[in-house]
Amino acid sequence: MWKVTLSDLRLHQDDHDAVLGVLQSNWLTMGPKTAEFEAAFALALDPQNPPSAYAVANCTVALHMALVALGIGPGDEVIVPSLTFVATANAVLYTGATVVLADIVGPGDLTLCPDDVLAKITPKTRAIIPVHYAGQPCDMRRLVAECKKRGIAIVEDVAHAPLADCIVSEDEPAQALGTIGDIGCFSFFSNKNMTTGEGGMVVTRHPEIAEKLRLLRSHGMTTLTLDRHKGHAYSYDVVELGFNYRMDEIRAALGLSQLSRLPANNVRRAEAVALYRQKLAKIQGLEVPFADRLPEGRVAPHILPVLLPLGVPRLAIQQAMKEQGIQTSVHYPPIHTFTLHRDSEQVRTANLSGVDFVADRLLTLPLYADLTEDDIDLVVRALKHSLTQAVG
Ligand SMILES: Cc1ncc(COP(=O)(O)O)c(C=O)c1O
Repeated sequence: MWKVTLSDLRLHQDDHDAVLGVLQSNWLTMGPKTAEFEAAFALALDPQNPPSAYAVANCTVALHMALVALGIGPGDEVIVPSLTFVATANAVLYTGATVVLADIVGPGDLTLCPDDVLAKITPKTRAIIPVHYAGQPCDMRRLVAECKKRGIAIVEDVAHAPLADCIVSEDEPAQALGTIGDIGCFSFFSNKNMTTGEGGMVVTRHPEIAEKLRLLRSHGMTTLTLDRHKGHAYSYDVVELGFNYRMDEIRAALGLSQLSRLPANNVRRAEAVALYRQKLAKIQGLEVPFADRLPEGRVAPHILPVLLPLGVPRLAIQQAMKEQGIQTSVHYPPIHTFTLHRDSEQVRTANLSGVDFVADRLLTLPLYADLTEDDIDLVVRALKHSLTQAVG
């Protein structure tokens, strides 16, 4: 049905071999492969000074345990962009804390707006969750400076941006997203820049938070099944109210093989985005967010959102694109438009005019590492054709 899908998962022989190797090893639950994956991921983020990293079941639980590790709960407020996947906000709701939704910078920059964050900080604000939307870094210079002054924690949602960097201070080299705030949360869901099927990683540079995260991932237990299997321990104590948020060896092995291709795949995604930008610039009335941004180190574009000309019916465009074999999507229906969140006493939805201005115009075009120039031409031609038909 599709000529070009929204994302494409092309597994290689080394992915197959990695998974088969685990199946043959006779040890499937969290063990040495998971530890190897964590060490490799931490080194890939920062070879000079790798953070502590814990592989987990997905990014949603990474966000949840990050907030629990920070001691966030009922009565606390956490600032989250409204333009994100629902999991970012739900992780806060799980803790009993209040979600305070914040706006985007504007149509050219769909990341969290630092001015709006500042306006929404109250004495109850305990953390903010900048989401590096589409793989584009939030303004970490300002967010870090403002949060430091006020003792507010930063949990980075890096689901879209594994191995992207940004500059935080002019006299320091660019730093990996996820290692800049207090805790970073990554997703390896199957449409992400690297995948383990379901999977995630939580990273931190604080030793005390690291120890908390390690315990929270596995029931707060002081030893693991593998420790006992190896005869290193006979029993365990439980010292935290933890969860079963573990990754398994099958996913970790896949993570290792995927990670080995991630830097090159991120570059290929960036090349596809550059081609798209050249070609889309010729479509009248269409806006391409982030088009003016210069990279500040490694880049990791994840999705390609565009803004349709004002007043163009998006669904008609999506249908017309589908008829031409092109899959599109919307990232995202804003959190404050969902039934659950709109009327919840646990969610603040004031002043989100920037998100409201772009919400109905957002359209996500196909993007993946193996996308060819011919694919991009097909997409751009289909979009032009669909817009001509819709506008008449
Ligand atoms: C911005 C963002 N945060 C969090 C998540 C949740 O990730 P996972 O599916 O690994 O739980 C996603 C997944 O799509 C996401 O895009």
